[in-house]
Amino acid sequence: MIKPAKVITITSGKGGVGKTHTAVNLGLALTQHMHKVLILDADLGLANVNILLGFKPKANISDMLKGKASIQDIIISLPSGIDIIPAASGVADIVNLSSQDRLLILTAVQELCYQYNYMIVDTAAGIGDSVIYFNLAAEENIIIVTPEATSIADAYALIKVLHQTSGINEVSILVNKNPENSDGRKTYAKLAQIADRFLNVRLKYLGAITEDSAVSESLKRQMPYTELFPSSKASLDIQKIAKKINENTQIKPPHGGMQFFFNELIMAKD
Ligand SMILES: Nc1ncnc2c1ncn2[C@@H]1O[C@H](COP(=O)(O)OP(=O)(O)O)[C@@H](O)[C@H]1O
Ligand SMILES: [Mg+2]
Repeated sequence: MIKPAKVITITSGKGGVGKTHTAVNLGLALTQHMHKVLILDADLGLANVNILLGFKPKANISDMLKGKASIQDIIISLPSGIDIIPAASGVADIVNLSSQDRLLILTAVQELCYQYNYMIVDTAAGIGDSVIYFNLAAEENIIIVTPEATSIADAYALIKVLHQTSGINEVSILVNKNPENSDGRKTYAKLAQIADRFLNVRLKYLGAITEDSAVSESLKRQMPYTELFPSSKASLDIQKIAKKINENTQIKPPHGGMQFFFNELIMAKD
């Protein structure tokens, strides 16, 4: 693969809006376009990727730093075709490591950069330091919002902080838990309206995922909904979103993919 992996963060103002489900299923939908996808689980919250998919991490980053494991030992390859660096491996702490340890991680991830087409980062909710760094270092920032007024307000607050602390001036908006037969653009328009008025940030509408019982069922069965219910509304929606992301292949300078991402992250606190 000649082009470095494109790094996409998935963030939200408040938790429980569907970041983890979206990261996993978007990853799977992208593999259907013949892409290799790595998911970086950067949220140590309760319902993280390994719980959602029912696997146990084999090794963690501190094993790697002690020389007891390689980066390949940390990565979990799922039969469905995506690879995952689990949160329980200490990803969320990357920005707080010593400079020597950070360099070790950089060297380890260098070999990964050209093995994937996409790296999707599932971040924690809110505006903690590491969430800001992850967003700043990525090429595309997806913000998930639901039609609830509180979610729209929280998304606005997040976009404002990302803009003010990091100069981020373009974000992609994905509306999740969208009621059936309702146009997700209505929620997008509410957010875009206040962002246009008070912030100098360009909002792009990426699409909407229907509120669908297939999603909660998939959580119970610890399998992604695109795999369990490929023709459910939510699955069809995410396939459209993957297609849209896939069509937008331009690399945004100076955001040169995965290597840039880790470099930025590792140098964040210097
Ligand atoms: N499109 C959807 N339709 C119905 N339920 C959803 C949908 N997306 C997410 N959920 C539910 O919302 C909850 C939070 O999802 P999760 O992906 O863990 O959110 P986050 O990572 O943002 O905290 C879960 O119970 C999940 O089943
Ligand atoms: Mg989550």
